Formats: sequence, C-alpha cells, structure tokens
Amino acid sequence: MAYSTITIQYDGRAALITINRESKLNALNGIALRELNLAVRAALEDPTVRGIIITGAGEKAFVAGADIAEFAHFDASEGRRLAQDGQTMVFDLIHRAHKPVVAAINGFALGGGLELALACHIRVASQAARLGLPEVSLGLIPGYGGTQRLTQLVGRGRALELILTGEMIGATQAEAYGLVNHVTEPAALLDKAKAIIARIASRAPDAVGAAIRAVNASLDPQQDGFRVEIDEFGKRFGTAEFREGVEAFLSKRPPSF
Ligand code: COA
Repeated sequence: MAYSTITIQYDGRAALITINRESKLNALNGIALRELNLAVRAALEDPTVRGIIITGAGEKAFVAGADIAEFAHFDASEGRRLAQDGQTMVFDLIHRAHKPVVAAINGFALGGGLELALACHIRVASQAARLGLPEVSLGLIPGYGGTQRLTQLVGRGRALELILTGEMIGATQAEAYGLVNHVTEPAALLDKAKAIIARIASRAPDAVGAAIRAVNASLDPQQDGFRVEIDEFGKRFGTAEFREGVEAFLSKRPPSF
C-alpha cells in the first residue's frame, strides 16, 4: 500500500509508522487520519507484528496538531463530525489496539499531536519534545480525546492547567507529570521505543492483548474493570500460551511465544 502522508517500516517485530508532512510539522489532515487508520489496522492484522511505534518525520515535530488550514471554515456540525470521525477512526482504534502502541515524541506534540500520543499505550519523549494542548488559543477545545485522556493520565488539576493556559511543557516536566514514561537523548528515542516493543514481544501476545483490555476497562465507565480482569484472567487458563509459559517455567527454560 502506497501512502502519501505517512510511511510504514518493519523493524524486527515492530511496525514503525512515521507521520510524514514535515513541511507542515506533520499536522494531521484528513488524508493523514485515513492513512493512519489503514496503517494501524494493517499492523494489527499482521501476525509478524507485535507492536507499533508512531513518530513524526524530521527533527522539529512529532505532530503539531490537527491541520488548522483544513478546518478553518468548518461550521458546528462539520466540527462535531471532525472530532467524532477522528476519534473513531484513529484515536480509539489505537487506544483499544490489542498490540502495544508506543508514541516516540521527537518534537512538538501539540493539540491532536499530543492527543495521538495520549491514545498510545506508552509514551517516550526526546529531550527536545514540547507538549501542549493549545486549542483554547484558537477558540477551540481538544477534540480527539484530550480532555479525557490527559485528565486520566495526569489528574484534573494538571490537565486543567495545561488545557486552560494552552501552554507547552518540556519533556522533563512531562515526565514529572507522568505524561511520558521515559525521556531520552534525541538520537536514542527510536531505540528506546524499539527496546520497549522488543521486550513486550518476548511475552505472550494474547496475554498482552488481554492485559490492555483489562487496563482500558478501568477507564471505561460502561465496564466493570474488575469483572473484565476476572474474565480475562480465567480465559487465559484455556490457552496454549498459558501451557507454554508454565511448562517453560517449570522446565527452567525461556518460553517461546
Ligand atoms: N496545522 C496546519 N499547519 C500547521 C500546523 C497545524 N496545526 N502547525 C504548523 N503548521 C504549518 C505552518 O502553517 C507552517 O506552514 P507554512 O510554512 O506553509 O506557512 C509550517 O507548518 C511551519 O510552522 P511555523 O508556524 O512556521 O513554525 P514555527 O517554528 O514558527 O512554530 C509551532 C512552530 C508549533 C509553535 C507553530 O507551528 C504552531 O503554533 N502550530 C500550531 C499548533 C496548534 O495550535 N495545534 C493545535 C491545532 S488544533
């Protein structure tokens, strides 16, 4: 599949998706959202892929937000559809993915760019990263899940300060907030993301998917997370993965998943 706004490369068991609109700081236009949907789905369906890394092309930006030029003349119903379609097509798809998705934040992660990173399961940032939700300075609010996922991740007070001031924070402060898991030298960013995926790829893949479902359930008011955990835990006992994991442990050999 040929993409015009993203690239996808395979590195070991990781699929590396790069948003590739460097001249527009990798801003997400409609095509980029559709291509992200296709690329993420392709990686999720590919049995050789155990995890996905999302990053931005160039040194300046991860993603500097939704494409402002594209929605500049939208009315209320078009604005609503922009948020609804984007959330369903990309942000919820990533949030609910059964394989781990790691954001490698190489520069500006603003607006929809930070929301893209928030939808990922794990975030790694370069020291050069700048993160923020500047939508109120455009007369908007975050529309790709930012009000929800940022609050869940850093708490109401910090989320409100970032969203209401629209100010950016650096990688070190983001790490102190728990907004990113790790901060690296710029040159080490992708290796760190790949190392996380490689470690997860050595674990039982369906168990990894079940763990993501159970953790996500803790944030979903429609679900009883404890019940989901019990169900997912129970189901594990009927699997070949469980037999292999336990047999390997008892035989003092590494498991093969
Ligand atoms: N949507 C559309 N185009 C964008 C964009 C966005 N979110 N962010 C940057 N760009 C474009 C700029 O318009 C510019 O294009 P041009 O060269 O054709 O004029 C190009 O990317 C480079 O950006 P520029 O603003 O010149 O770079 P800078 O270094 O001066 O500033 C930022 C960098 C990130 C501070 C600034 O681009 C910015 O504030 N972007 C918008 C961030 C935002 O509000 N995001 C939330 C959107 S809901």
